[in-house]
Amino acid sequence: MQPVFKTRITELYGIRLPVIASGLMWLATPEYVGAAVNAGLMGFMTAASFKNVDALRAGIQRCREITGGKPFGVNIMIRTSRDGTDRVTPLIDAVIDEGVRFVETAGHNPEAYIKRFKDAGIKVLHKVPGVRYAKKAESLGVDAVTVVGAEAGGHPGVEPVGTMVAAVAAARAIKIPLIVAGGIGTGDQLVAALALGADGVAMGTRFLVSEEVWADRRYKERLVKAGETDTTLLLQSMRNTQRALKTEHVSMIQQIEKDQAGDTAALLPHIMGTHAHAAYTTGDYEKAMLSCGQGVVFADKIEPFAAIVDRIEAEARATLTRLDSLHAQSAAGK
Ligand SMILES: Cc1cc2nc3c(=O)[nH]c(=O)nc-3n(C[C@H](O)[C@H](O)[C@H](O)COP(=O)(O)O)c2cc1C
Repeated sequence: MQPVFKTRITELYGIRLPVIASGLMWLATPEYVGAAVNAGLMGFMTAASFKNVDALRAGIQRCREITGGKPFGVNIMIRTSRDGTDRVTPLIDAVIDEGVRFVETAGHNPEAYIKRFKDAGIKVLHKVPGVRYAKKAESLGVDAVTVVGAEAGGHPGVEPVGTMVAAVAAARAIKIPLIVAGGIGTGDQLVAALALGADGVAMGTRFLVSEEVWADRRYKERLVKAGETDTTLLLQSMRNTQRALKTEHVSMIQQIEKDQAGDTAALLPHIMGTHAHAAYTTGDYEKAMLSCGQGVVFADKIEPFAAIVDRIEAEARATLTRLDSLHAQSAAGK
């Protein structure tokens, strides 16, 4: 079947559908990213999920085996650690050495690393939670930008703006290829995002129920049952807003934020990533803060990654047909 779309994002990555499987802490493994790439998308393995740089290198090699050499990407969180150790450069060294061609950066400003990526021929997609950061990223010379809206799982920004607004505002503000994310999980939304001026979409939450995500089935079954009101924002008091699944652990954190406003030290033991890893392992989701977006309402079945992508593509085709039928000229028989 002919691809449905040709956009600057399908061209940049050489992919069938303009859809990105964005980095997921602990979960965007070689198996997951390999499945995304084999289904015709671009996927990013999360470097921070590997216990050290050697494990990341092994993960890159494993992903290459799964994709049969088709390109894939690595997600690198740009951050400055409290003790001043540079934890980003060793990851970049590994990515360059291993011949990875695509990187998704997130977090802080990637300026210090752009030249190294460019010299190595790596295309950089920088992810931001707002239009002004998108403009900044464009000025730094990144190849494409992802703008995430308020509905997104993970970090929707300190001042979350709905994806519908963020998409158009970003499309009008920048010239480089634009990906939008946040609550997107269907082919109809993909078509809508392109109509708003984006070149593609990124999804995180929608893919959490794919068979290739290693997390315990009970967690995925919870997601299948979840609706659009089953997530909440927290950690606004740390200026580190997150959207996560409503769980007992999350309610406890929100209570601390209320009762001990401004006491970051009281929060820190409860927001460590190890809680999430344990919950994914055991399936006891109530005991952790697990990033999750409002688009969880579309994660309605545990199935292979490729089956989810087939559905998204079929929905996109059906939406285009529907739009065509709504077009005044075609409705009048032309
Ligand atoms: C479980 C989960 C873990 C995530 N971990 C990361 C991460 O480690 N790095 C990152 O850049 N983004 C991370 N994100 C954000 C996603 O890459 C993506 O931006 C977001 O999921 C898009 O919004 P959506 O969830 O509405 O699809 C995570 C999201 C989820 C749901």
